[in-house]
Amino acid sequence: MFAGISPSPAELSHYRKPTSFAIDVTPEAATMTTAPHLRLNALCPYFTMFPLDFPTRYLAQARPGEWVLDPFCGRGTTNYAARLHGLPTVGIDSSPVAVAIARAKLVQVTPDELIAEAERILAGPEPADVPEGHFWDLAYHPRTLLDICRLREALLRDCEAPVRIALRGLILGILHGPRTRRAPSYLSNQMPRTYATKPDPAVRFWVRRGMRPEEVDVLDVLARRARYSFAALPPPVPGCILQADSREPGAIPVVDGGYRWVITSPPYLGMRSYQPDQWLRLWFLGGEPTVRYIHEGQVSHLQGEYQRDLATVWRNVAARCRPGTRLIIRFGCLPTLPCNPKQVLEETLARSGVPWRIVEVTGAGIPPRHRRQAVQFEKTRPAHEEIDLVAVLGE
Ligand SMILES: C[S@@+](CC[C@H](N)C(=O)[O-])C[C@H]1O[C@@H](n2cnc3c(N)ncnc32)[C@H](O)[C@@H]1O
Repeated sequence: MFAGISPSPAELSHYRKPTSFAIDVTPEAATMTTAPHLRLNALCPYFTMFPLDFPTRYLAQARPGEWVLDPFCGRGTTNYAARLHGLPTVGIDSSPVAVAIARAKLVQVTPDELIAEAERILAGPEPADVPEGHFWDLAYHPRTLLDICRLREALLRDCEAPVRIALRGLILGILHGPRTRRAPSYLSNQMPRTYATKPDPAVRFWVRRGMRPEEVDVLDVLARRARYSFAALPPPVPGCILQADSREPGAIPVVDGGYRWVITSPPYLGMRSYQPDQWLRLWFLGGEPTVRYIHEGQVSHLQGEYQRDLATVWRNVAARCRPGTRLIIRFGCLPTLPCNPKQVLEETLARSGVPWRIVEVTGAGIPPRHRRQAVQFEKTRPAHEEIDLVAVLGE
């Protein structure tokens, strides 16, 4: 189990929905991403996130103590929605980046604690390992890179305490992004925030435009972001985020009474760039300072295998739920594939061999560009509409 988060049944038995913290979880409030209690959810962008109001809307019907599961939790949107409702929650993802971001959403720390911890680390010794080469020279100012490496090494040595888990999530969120005319919000030279450009195209881009990296005061950016994102957290809830492959039979932990709510969005059919597109954040988490085209622990992107993989996950999920559990899935396909999302998803449920009874399938519309899984493929075809499916577990 992970530091600061324990889904122990004993803890849960005297847990109640918080009353001292006024949380407006209406869809209207959930879309106001600047409301202080909702800000932590935007800690770090993730390629394929769904909006907070999607899980929030369903969980408004949950009763105190009901467990919430997301077997493909990504940046932990479902888990943060559960926290907003005071519900215990478990998230699972095979990507270390997703897990690091989602874990930061369940900890309880103050901005001052975060800033003090960052100050302590930045006052420490020179880092032993600083990546070199054309990409790194142009991506970060040398002194900014030294500070990033100091933080990286300290967090790789020890990331057990809640303050360190939160600090790691915070740094992942500012590691790369666009430059602005105002005080910098990101540590890198010009880059997208959602995914990291591959080294060769990034270098070409910067050289062509004569863009040198500015020196960025790492502590200043961290402090501003900490005061924004951690200003008003909802009370902590029992639960944890696990790095695991949800296809594995033992990946989903048993909880007292079983899960009552499963709210999730599996990878789009055809999508498999989760890890290579996050290569800079993966480096920060201890990976190689270069892109690796690995797809470890990811469901297959191939038709047929994909349906089989999802069927396995729905079966594993059912084994940890009780009759009446609601499974709510937001689902889509890459526009490059001829695919009917409803048909594909229904097939995965049918193949699971478990009595998931479909009670509702609705169109979820075309998501805004920045949230779309398919965004990188849209140059050639428009995105398919996503669907929301609700199923109930039978006896
Ligand atoms: C659509 S994203 C989830 C996004 C999430 N709803 C959010 O708001 O951030 C799908 C996630 O499934 C994860 N994933 C893919 N295969 C997996 C597997 N076999 N086990 C666990 N997670 C997996 C990917 O790493 C990715 O983070």
